[in-house]
Amino acid sequence: RNHKRHTTCRNDINMLNAPLLALFESLIPSDEEKLKQKQLLTLLENLVCKEWPNARLFLYGSCANSFGFPKSDVDVCLQMDLGDVEKSEVLLKLAKIFESDNLQNVQALTRARVPIVKLMDPVTGISCDICINNVLAVVNTKLLHDYARIDIRLRQLAFIVKHWAKSRGVNATYQGTLSSYAYVLMCIHFLQQRRPSILPCLQRMQVTYYVTVEDVECAYFDQVEKLQNFGAQNRESVAQLVWAFFHYWAYCHDYANDVISVRTGSMISKRGKDWTRRVGNDRHLICIEDPFEVSHDLGRVVDKHSIRVLREEFERAAEIMQYDPNPCVTLFEPY
Ligand code: GTP
Ligand code: MG
Repeated sequence: RNHKRHTTCRNDINMLNAPLLALFESLIPSDEEKLKQKQLLTLLENLVCKEWPNARLFLYGSCANSFGFPKSDVDVCLQMDLGDVEKSEVLLKLAKIFESDNLQNVQALTRARVPIVKLMDPVTGISCDICINNVLAVVNTKLLHDYARIDIRLRQLAFIVKHWAKSRGVNATYQGTLSSYAYVLMCIHFLQQRRPSILPCLQRMQVTYYVTVEDVECAYFDQVEKLQNFGAQNRESVAQLVWAFFHYWAYCHDYANDVISVRTGSMISKRGKDWTRRVGNDRHLICIEDPFEVSHDLGRVVDKHSIRVLREEFERAAEIMQYDPNPCVTLFEPY
């Protein structure tokens, strides 16, 4: 590989700001969309509470972390005391309740890694996945949402990266590529690493938010309204950041040795985590540490074939950002 190619970016890079920002604006869900999601949540809440009065529903994933597209599915977590009851039993019961309320395509996937009930609301047209007691996902959703409130450039970059990943077919964990969650973590980490940095490391600051979930301690500084000027020293534009993001993953990241870690705000070593070899199905060919479940590598789904696909896509994107006359079209061309 041609290591660290073109270390300075094209000099007309800022021409790309306006079209990239316009793209970002077009990808943000409207207030109307948000309202529909709220309506659906209320409907589900009413149905669930008739059967389990102490249960609570939380939104998580992209409809609540502020990185959602208009057509994203709504992820809902049902929090309840299960007692001796099996999760699968509750899921089947939920499915029955939803079906008799005319919700469509109701399906209980009780054997999935994260067991869920799927459904579609014919009134709003929104699809929804409901899981049970997946509290860590609710907490990492809050973390992402809090990071997004610090500097607008995170959302701008992440929407563009997610849009690129979806267009290029590299946003499917069942095909060995990365989840949206993984891409957002890559963006956060990247902005933590800029000099001057654009994002702080919230988990290294004074603790103002604390929960323990299944023995995992989740602690960080969540008074982000106090960090509004954090990134002001860094004047990089979104076009420069998109360029640098792809350049980093194409030519600079040390895939053999490094783990990106939002938790520490820095790079940590694979060796320190014992992620240097394949363990079971986890190959650790690209390592992205979950900020709370630190033994969880979001790159674990990537295999020998898909790592090549991914790296070729990063290189393609880097080349386009460097040389293409019309990157805002070419970058997102369907694969
Ligand atoms: P889109 O649905 O693609 O718009 O994005 P999303 O943010 O909803 O991402 P995704 O469906 O990949 O994940 C939903 C949520 O599950 C994430 O936001 C996390 O809160 C949580 N999550 C926790 N661990 C994992 C994991 O290993 N993989 C994925 N995919 N999600 C995880
Ligand atoms: Mg989702």
